[in-house]
Amino acid sequence: MDELISELSLEEKVSLLGGQDFWSLPEIARIGLRSLVMSDGPVGVRGTGWAPEDPSVALPSPTALAATWDPELVERAGRLLGQESRRKGVHLLLAPTVNLHRTPLNGRHFECFSEDPLLTGEIAAAFVTGVQSLGVGTTVKHLVGNDFETERMTVDVRISERALREVYLPPFERVVRAGGWGVMSAYNGVNGSPMSSHAELQQRVLKDEWGFDGIVVSDWRAARDTVGAALGGLDIAMPAMQNPWGEALVEAVRAGLVPEEEIDAKVRRVLRLAARVGALGPPPSGEWPELDGSAVAHEVAARSFVLVRNEDFTLPLEPAALTRVAVIGALALDARVLGGGSATVTPPHVISPLEGIGRSLSGVDVAYATGADPRPFLPPARGPEWTGLRVDLAGKYDFAVGEAALRWIGDLPGRLDPADVDGLTIAGTFTPAVDGEHVFAVSGFGTFVLTVGEREVYRGALHAEGTERGELLLSPREHRAAVTLAAGVPVEVILTQIIPAGMAHTVSTTLGHRPPGPDAAEMITEAAALAAGSDVAIVVVGTTEQVESEGFDRTSLALPGTQDELVRRVAAANPRTVVVVNAGAPVLLPWADDVAAVVLTWFPGQEAGAALADVLLGVLEPGGRLPTTWPRRAEDCPVLDVTPQGGVVSYDEGVFVGYRAWQRASREPHYAFGHGLGYTTWSYEALRVVDGTAEITVTNTGAREGREVIQVYVRPAAPDDERPAEWLAGFATVTAHPDESVTARVDLPERTFQTWADGGWHTVAGDYEIVAAHALDDPRLVVSLTVGA
Ligand code: BGC
Repeated sequence: MDELISELSLEEKVSLLGGQDFWSLPEIARIGLRSLVMSDGPVGVRGTGWAPEDPSVALPSPTALAATWDPELVERAGRLLGQESRRKGVHLLLAPTVNLHRTPLNGRHFECFSEDPLLTGEIAAAFVTGVQSLGVGTTVKHLVGNDFETERMTVDVRISERALREVYLPPFERVVRAGGWGVMSAYNGVNGSPMSSHAELQQRVLKDEWGFDGIVVSDWRAARDTVGAALGGLDIAMPAMQNPWGEALVEAVRAGLVPEEEIDAKVRRVLRLAARVGALGPPPSGEWPELDGSAVAHEVAARSFVLVRNEDFTLPLEPAALTRVAVIGALALDARVLGGGSATVTPPHVISPLEGIGRSLSGVDVAYATGADPRPFLPPARGPEWTGLRVDLAGKYDFAVGEAALRWIGDLPGRLDPADVDGLTIAGTFTPAVDGEHVFAVSGFGTFVLTVGEREVYRGALHAEGTERGELLLSPREHRAAVTLAAGVPVEVILTQIIPAGMAHTVSTTLGHRPPGPDAAEMITEAAALAAGSDVAIVVVGTTEQVESEGFDRTSLALPGTQDELVRRVAAANPRTVVVVNAGAPVLLPWADDVAAVVLTWFPGQEAGAALADVLLGVLEPGGRLPTTWPRRAEDCPVLDVTPQGGVVSYDEGVFVGYRAWQRASREPHYAFGHGLGYTTWSYEALRVVDGTAEITVTNTGAREGREVIQVYVRPAAPDDERPAEWLAGFATVTAHPDESVTARVDLPERTFQTWADGGWHTVAGDYEIVAAHALDDPRLVVSLTVGA
C-alpha cells in the first residue's frame, strides 16, 4: 500500500479524499484504482440515481429489522443488500443507522433500530456482516448524537462521557469490533466540536482505542472546516459540492497546517477500503448463492410484525369461516412501505394490504372502503384510468412510468448530463371512470405548466426563487386544480416542468390525481357500514411522508387526519375489528383497548400486503417484539422536546434512555419494550447461569409450531439511583413444535456488569438478579448471581 501511496502526488492523494460528484471518488488508473461508488442505504440500495427504470428491492424499515430480534435473519437481509450493491456497481453502502430511539419525535426514528444499545448493536453487527460478506463495505452512521433532526446541521449535542460510553457509542463499537469497514460522522456537534472535526471521538476513541482501520466519511456536506476536519479523524469528505478539501487541503498541507503523513494515513485507509471492495486489484471473489429479494423482504416483514393485542385469539383468521372481509383505509390501498429522505428507494413493485389479502382469500368477498385518507398530498396518477404514462427529459430521453412520480438525486435516467436537461414532461391519457370534479395536483420544484385536455390549469412555481436545495427536497409543496370531466371521455394530461440551471440532478416531481368522491365524514360512514356487513374489518392506519421523514422532527404522536375517529366508528360497527398500524415509529392508539386485535407492521417494504395476509391468516406467525417502548400518552415519553436552545440540546437524562427512563419515572407505557404476542404459548421451565452464560429452557405449550424471543435482563439486587433498575443483557430466538422443549444460551460478558467512570470501564461487584423474560414487563424466571470485582 505504501508503495502505491509513494507514487501519488499530493494533489492526487487529496483528490482521493473527496467526492468527484455526488456519490463517488475519482479513479487513478495509473495505480489500478477504479472509482469507488457509494450509495444509500438502510432498506435498499438506491444506486447512484433514483431512476424508476432501475428499481431496488425495498426491505422493511430498520425498526422492523430490529423488531425481528433475529441477527441471523438480519444478516441474510444484509447479504441481500450486498447482492443489490454488486448488481448496481456500489462498493460502499451508506448504512446501517444506529442512532438511538431517544425520543419518538425523531423524524428518522424509523431508520434507527431501537432505544436499547445492545439490541441496536447486535442487529447492526449482523447487518454489516451480511453486507460485507459479499465484498461490499458499510458505513455505520451517524457518529454520534444524531438522534433528532431539528437544526441537525449545526446543533451541538451535550452528552456526558458516561452516557456516550454506555448508551450512544456501544452500537458503533459493536460494529467496529465485528469488522465494519466504514463509519459516517454526523452533521451535529458533540460537546462543542462538530463531529466531522471531532478528534477525540473519531481519532482517539474510534481509531486509536477501538482499532478501527476503515474510513470515516462525512455526512453529505457536513464537513465545513478544511484543517479541523483533516486533523479531526475524517478521511473522506462528501460530496463534491461545497467540499472543504481539494485545493484548500493541498494548500493547507503546503502551508504546514496539516502534516502530509496525515494525508497519507487517510489515503492508506481509502486504498485499504478500495482493496476490500474490489475497486483496487482483483474484484472480490467467492461463491454467493443468489438470494430472492422478494422472498427475503417477505420473510423479514412477517417476522417483524408485532402483534400487540389479540383478544380471544381473533387472529389468525380462519379463511373457511369467512364470507365477507372489509379492508379499510387509504394506506390499505397505498401502503407506506418506507420512510422519507435519503433512505428512499424505488421498489420494483409494492403489494398493498388490499392486494395481498385479496389474493390470499379467493372465494371470499374482499370489499374496500377508503374510510380516511391521511395523506396531505394527492397520490400520483396511476391505475387503469391512465394509459401511456411517459416521461420525457428535455427531448433527449424518454421512458414509461407506472405512476406519475419522479425522484432522483445524482445520476439522471438515461445517464444524461444534468447540464443538458432544462426541463421534463410527464404525460398520459386519462379516461375517467366517473363523471364529476377530478382534482389534479402538482408538486416538486422549478416552474410548472399543467394542462388537462385543452385547459391550462396551473402555471407557476411552488417555492420562492433561491430556496435552499435541502429545503426544496425535504419540505415539498403542492398546488391543486379541479376539473370537471365526463366518464369515458379521454383527455391528455401534460405536466411540464422547467428546471432551473444546474438543478437537474435533484428532481422530486409528482402529478397527483384524485377522482370525485365522498368527503371525510361520508367516507367514515361508508366504511362503518361496510364493516357492519362483514365478518371481520381490517383497518390499516398510519403515518405519512410529511410525518416521518429525514429533515424534520415530528410534532405529534397522534395518527394524522381522521384515522382515530375511523377506527372508533368501525370498531363500534363490528367487534371483530383488526387494526394494522403502518408506521415506522410509535403512534398513539387511543382506541386500542376497544378493538379485537392490533398488529404493528412498521414500514413493511415492498412485500407488505403479502406478508400481512400470511400473518393475518396464520400461514406465518407474527414474529416481532417491540424494539422500543410504545407510549399510551405522548406526555409520558421521557424526552419530548428536541428543539435546540441557543443551538444546544442537552441529554440531561444521561444513561436513562428508553425503558430505563420509563422505569425510573415509574410510568406505565402502552406496550413495554420486548412485548409481542405469537400464535402459540410458552412455558419457561428452567434458568441457570453457568460460567457466564445464561441457559434457559422453554417449552411450547400451544397447539402450533412457534418462535419465541427469549430476553435476558439484569437487575442490581440493591437498586441505586446511579444505575437503571434493569437492562437487556442478551437474547436468543428459538423455534419449537407443540410440547417440544428447547434450551437457549445467552452470554453475559463482563461489560454487562460494568459502568464507565474516571475514563475507564469498572465492574460493579455485588448481587444481581438474572431474569429470563418474554418481555420487559413479563419476567418468567429469576436467579441470583454474585459478581466479584
Ligand atoms: C443523510 C445520510 C445519507 C446522505 C447521503 C444525508 O442527508 O443524513 O444518512 O447517507 O445524506 O444521501
